[in-house]
Amino acid sequence: MSSPVIFPFKSNIIIDRASSRHIYLQLCDQIIGFIKSGKLAPSTKLPGSRKLSEDLNIHRKTVVAAYDELMSQDWIQSIPAKGTFVNKNLPIINPKKITKSTNSLESKNSIGFRFKKRKHLIIKGLETIKATIKVDEGVPDHRLAPIEDIAKNYRNITNKKHHKELLTYGDTHGNIELRKVLVDYLNQSRGLKTSIENILITRGSQMGIYLASQLLLNDKKIVITGDTNYMTADNTFTEANGIIKRVSVDKQGINTKEIEEVCKKHTISAVYVTSHHHHPTTVTLSADRRMHLLDLAQRNNFAIIEDDYDYDFHYNNAPILPLASNDTHGNVIYIGGFTKIIAPALRIGYFVAPKEVVDEAARLRRILDRQGDTLLEQTLARMIINGDIQRHSNKVRKIYKERRDLFCGLLKEKLTDFFDFEIPKGGMAVWVQLKKPYNWDIVMTAALKRNIAFNPEWKRYDNNNSGHNGIRIGFAALNKKEIITVINVLESVMKSIQ
Ligand SMILES: Cc1ncc(COP(=O)(O)O)c(C=O)c1O
Repeated sequence: MSSPVIFPFKSNIIIDRASSRHIYLQLCDQIIGFIKSGKLAPSTKLPGSRKLSEDLNIHRKTVVAAYDELMSQDWIQSIPAKGTFVNKNLPIINPKKITKSTNSLESKNSIGFRFKKRKHLIIKGLETIKATIKVDEGVPDHRLAPIEDIAKNYRNITNKKHHKELLTYGDTHGNIELRKVLVDYLNQSRGLKTSIENILITRGSQMGIYLASQLLLNDKKIVITGDTNYMTADNTFTEANGIIKRVSVDKQGINTKEIEEVCKKHTISAVYVTSHHHHPTTVTLSADRRMHLLDLAQRNNFAIIEDDYDYDFHYNNAPILPLASNDTHGNVIYIGGFTKIIAPALRIGYFVAPKEVVDEAARLRRILDRQGDTLLEQTLARMIINGDIQRHSNKVRKIYKERRDLFCGLLKEKLTDFFDFEIPKGGMAVWVQLKKPYNWDIVMTAALKRNIAFNPEWKRYDNNNSGHNGIRIGFAALNKKEIITVINVLESVMKSIQ
C-alpha cells in the first residue's frame, strides 16, 4: 500500500443534517464520488475513524458505519495494523477538472455511446404547448373517466386474499378473467365468433398494431394503407421494415378496386383498415367494399389488420359490425381496446386472431412487456361483468353526440366560407378541410395567439403530399363552453386573415 495522500476531507465533505438521507450514507456517497472522480486514487489511505469524526464533527460510530458500508461494497479495504485504504484493485482514474459542464445538468445529458435515432418518429404533440384550450385529433374527455368506479373495483380486488396471485408473473396472453369476459363481450357486441385462445390482451390498440406489423412485415413485405392514413400506424409499419403502398380513400372508405390492382402486381402481406371510421377522414367502409376486401384477402392470402379503435362511438345508427365478424377464413387480425371508452391512460386493448397467430404475438409481446397490468385487467373484467363499462360507454356516447352536433352546427353556421367538412357518423373528430388559398399554419399561429392550440403536426395528415389541406379536429374532449370558444376564435381568426 502506498503512503496516504493528503486529501482535505474536512473541507470537501459536507454533511447536511436537514437531509432525510442518513449521515453515514451521505459520507459514503461523497467518498464514492471522490473515488469515482479519481480524487481518491486506489491504495490511498483514508483517515482513521476517530480523526475523521473529529474533523467532521460527527459521531465516530457514524464513520465506522460508513467505512463498513464502503467495505461491503468493495470501495475500500481494511488492512490489519495498517489502516483503511481505497481498494487497490479499482481502476486508476485521472482526476477531472471540475468545469461548469461536468458539474451541471448538461453532463447528465452527454451521451457516451452510439444509438439509432429515428427521425420519422419525432412528433411534436400538443403536450408541451401552453394554451387555454388544446384541440386534439379526437380523443376521449379524460375528465369524464369513471375513476371512482375503477378505484372501487380495484380496491375490492386487492382486498381479496385469493387475488394476491395476480401480483406474480402470469400468462403473457393477459389476465385470464378478462380474456374470458372478452369472449362474450366481443361475440355479443361485435358479432365475432371468438374463443379465449383467440384473445391476447395488449397495452392499448397501439401495441396490437405493433405486434401485427412485426409478425407480418419484416423483410420489406408490403402493407397497403389508405391515402390518407393514421400516421402512427404508418410509422409502426415503417419501423417493422415494411413497405407501404397507398390506395385512395373516398366517401365509401378505402378503395378496394385499387387494392385488387396492387395485388395483381405485388405479393401483399397486409392491408390496414380503420373500417368503422377511417382515420383521419372518419368515413365508414361501405358494405360492398367490406365483402370485396374479405374476398381479396382470402384469394391473395393477406392479413387484414382491422383497427377498430373507436367502435363504441357511432351516433346515427347502431355500430357497423367489423370485418372480423364475417371473417370465415382467418384473414382478420382484429384490434381494439378500452382507451377510447375510458381514458387514454388506461392502457388495455385486445388483439384477436387465429390461435397460432395469437400465441406468436404473445411470445413477441413477452420481450417487450412481460404480461401487462394484471390487476387493472382483472378490474376491467369485473367492470364489464357488473355493467360499469357499458353504463359509462352509453353515458359518454350521449355526451359526445351532443358535442358533435354542437361543434358541427356552429361550424356550419359560422365557418362554411372557409372550411369544408361532413358531419361524422361516429368517432371523436371531424375531418375539416381548409379552403384554398388559406393555410393551416397561419390559422394555427393566429389561434395560438388567442390561446387555442391545434395539432402542430397537421402536415402529417398528408403523408403522401396529395395537398388535401384537411386536419382532424377533435370535439369529444371539449365541453360546451370550450366548443363555443374554439368556434368563436376560429371565426375571428378567419376574418382577420381574409
Ligand atoms: C386509428 C387509431 N388507432 C389506434 C390508436 C391507438 O389507440 P390506443 O391508445 O388504444 O393505443 C389511435 C389513437 O388515437 C388511433 O387513432
